[in-house]
Amino acid sequence: MDTTQGAAIIPCQRHLFDIPDDVAYLNCAYISPLMKSAVAAGEAAARRKARPWEIFPHHFFVEAEEARALFARLVGAAPGDIAIQPSTSYGAAIAAANLEFARGARIVVLHEQFPSNVYAWREAARRSGAAIDTVPRPADDDWTPAVLERIGAGTALVAVPHVHWTDGALLDLVAIGRRAREVGAALFVDATQSLGALPLDVRAVQPDYLVAATYKWLLGPYGMGFLYVAPHRQAGRPIEEHWSTRAGSEDFTRLVDYRDDYQPGARRFDVGEKANIHLVPMAIAALTQLLAWGAANVQASLRAMTDRLEARLRPLGLETLPRALRGGHYLGLRFPSGVPDGLAARLAAENVHASVRGRAAMRVTPHLWVSARDEDRFVDALTRALRARP
Ligand SMILES: Cc1ncc(COP(=O)(O)O)c(C=O)c1O
Repeated sequence: MDTTQGAAIIPCQRHLFDIPDDVAYLNCAYISPLMKSAVAAGEAAARRKARPWEIFPHHFFVEAEEARALFARLVGAAPGDIAIQPSTSYGAAIAAANLEFARGARIVVLHEQFPSNVYAWREAARRSGAAIDTVPRPADDDWTPAVLERIGAGTALVAVPHVHWTDGALLDLVAIGRRAREVGAALFVDATQSLGALPLDVRAVQPDYLVAATYKWLLGPYGMGFLYVAPHRQAGRPIEEHWSTRAGSEDFTRLVDYRDDYQPGARRFDVGEKANIHLVPMAIAALTQLLAWGAANVQASLRAMTDRLEARLRPLGLETLPRALRGGHYLGLRFPSGVPDGLAARLAAENVHASVRGRAAMRVTPHLWVSARDEDRFVDALTRALRARP
């Protein structure tokens, strides 16, 4: 499924970031750098906290609503479908508290899936007598048919990412969502390693829940995320009760007229202190820029970059996923006899940054700050590191 047809290549955007010339950072899957605009928003927010007499009740709602609306645009949802979160795991906890698992029901996950999208289900399975159904890594790297095959009458939940966090292997969420609905299973998507760089539309995927932390491909702060909650799940139970998620909480004079009803839509699932006056402005700055670029254009630009790197690294004898099966923002490099010990550290010593997760691959995850010179430095440093091996 090509989600980038007609997309434009965005030129290098390094001027928007504060990255020294001698740093080649191809590690967005670890933590993205904040843009200068987000840093400025964060600094202004810190200064505002130094002058609390300038913080007014509307500040607790207006910016949170702006962030919610921007994220909603990114995923094709309505602002009221979005809850403000502190992490991926918090979104999984909300889903786990609201899904029902019969004894013997199955929860489909991937082999070596990121833990924040595994532990919540293991706990839910332990409590209910359901079972975790782990799809092994397919020999041909094509996760979609392997996942589709696993979804059957006993499946209660499919909890998957859009790309595998270790190597960027891509899943067709539209097909998986369709199959999940056919058997009456819920779909939980962890889009932390893709959203912002890979287009996703909840109207096509139709997940029950979709969560993304902001500190990677959303180019936002650490400690924040968003949860999309499908309309039919919005009457669920929050995992904490906060004053600001209750109806009428905009009126500070009536907060102790305790009420049972919530703010509309998914807002009941907002984390306590959701109006985080430090993080929310940074997330707004980042989301504004991402929407201006457009996720399809970001994806096309990063794919062009990883394609170039792949072609240049091929002579080193490294293996990569088939092109159609990897997110364009990722290049998973496999080494015939395993990832050499200390490889990432050896590159980092030359100020060239990529990472190794799991046992299978080195993940190379550039973004729009990466220049042609960075690409050269990455290829040269990796070549040197591999030639220097005993
Ligand atoms: C796929 C994926 N999901 C989520 C996270 C972060 O999870 P949390 O926000 O719960 O710390 C990561 C971090 O590496 C990740 O790779």
